[in-house]
Amino acid sequence: MSLDYEYFKEKMLELTGFDLHGYKEKQIRRRLGTLMKSLGAEDFRAYYQILKREPQHLKRFFQRATINVSEFFRNPQRFQELQEVHLPQLLARQGCPRVWSAGASTGEEAYTLAIIFSELGLRCARGILATDVDEEALQFARQGIYPPGRLRHLPPGYLPKYFRAVGENHQVIDQVKSLVSFKRHDLLRDPFPSGFDLILCRNVVIYFTQEAKEKIYRGLAQALNPGGIIFTGATEQIFGSRDLDLVNLSPFFYQKK
Ligand SMILES: C[S@@+](CC[C@H](N)C(=O)[O-])C[C@H]1O[C@@H](n2cnc3c(N)ncnc32)[C@H](O)[C@@H]1O
Repeated sequence: MSLDYEYFKEKMLELTGFDLHGYKEKQIRRRLGTLMKSLGAEDFRAYYQILKREPQHLKRFFQRATINVSEFFRNPQRFQELQEVHLPQLLARQGCPRVWSAGASTGEEAYTLAIIFSELGLRCARGILATDVDEEALQFARQGIYPPGRLRHLPPGYLPKYFRAVGENHQVIDQVKSLVSFKRHDLLRDPFPSGFDLILCRNVVIYFTQEAKEKIYRGLAQALNPGGIIFTGATEQIFGSRDLDLVNLSPFFYQKK
C-alpha cells in the first residue's frame, strides 16, 4: 500500500466522513485515475489538496468511488426464484415481511421488490427499507424516474402497470413508491438496523476488502430474524456462512437458522 494513498484515506475521512479503508485499493485507484489526471493531480496527496480547496469536485469523487450501476429485475431468474420459492415461505410465516435493500443505489432493486409485493397483493406501507451511502443516488431513487435501459428486464405487462411516462423516461407509480423508504446508511461505519425477514445486499461488497466483507456479512446475519433470508449478488458468496448460522439454500440465497 502506498503512502500517498494512506494519507488520502485518512484525510478524506476527516474531510467528508467517507471511509475508504474498507475498499480495495486497486479498484479505487483504477476508478479515480482518469479523474485525477483530468484535474492535474499527480498523486493522491495532490488530489486531496484539490478536493479540499475546491469542494465542487467532491461530487464526482463520490460518483466514481461508489459505482451506482443498477437496473430493475437485475438477474431476472434470481428474482423469479425469490418470488416463487423463497417469498412464499416467508409469507407463510408472516404477512408483511420486513425487508432491507442495503446498497440500494438509485432504487431499482427496492422498487423491483415493491413491484413483486404488489403482484402478490401485499400492501405493506414502507415495509421495504432501502439504504445507500450515496445521498445523490438516494435522491434519484426518491424521484423514481428511469431511462428505458434500466427497465429492459421488466416482465411483460409491468411497464404500463407500474410506471407512467415522463418524456422518454418512466416514473414508478405512487402505489409502488409508498412501499419503500429511502435512508442514508454507510455499511462500513453506521450501526446496522435489525429485525428483518429479507435482506438484499447485491453487487455492493465486491468493492470491499475481505475484512470489510466479513464484517458486513456478520452484521447482516445479525440483522435477520430467525428464518430470514439474505439475497446476494450473482458473483457473491458468503464464505464461512455456517459460522454465521446461515444455511445456503441455493447459490445467492442464505437462510438464518
Ligand atoms: C453497483 S451498486 C448496487 C445496486 C443494487 N444493489 C444492485 O445490485 O443493482 C453498489 C452500491 O453500493 C453503494 N455503496 C458503496 N459503498 C457503500 C457503503 N459503505 N455503504 C452503503 N452503500 C455503499 C454504492 O453507493 C452503490 O450505490
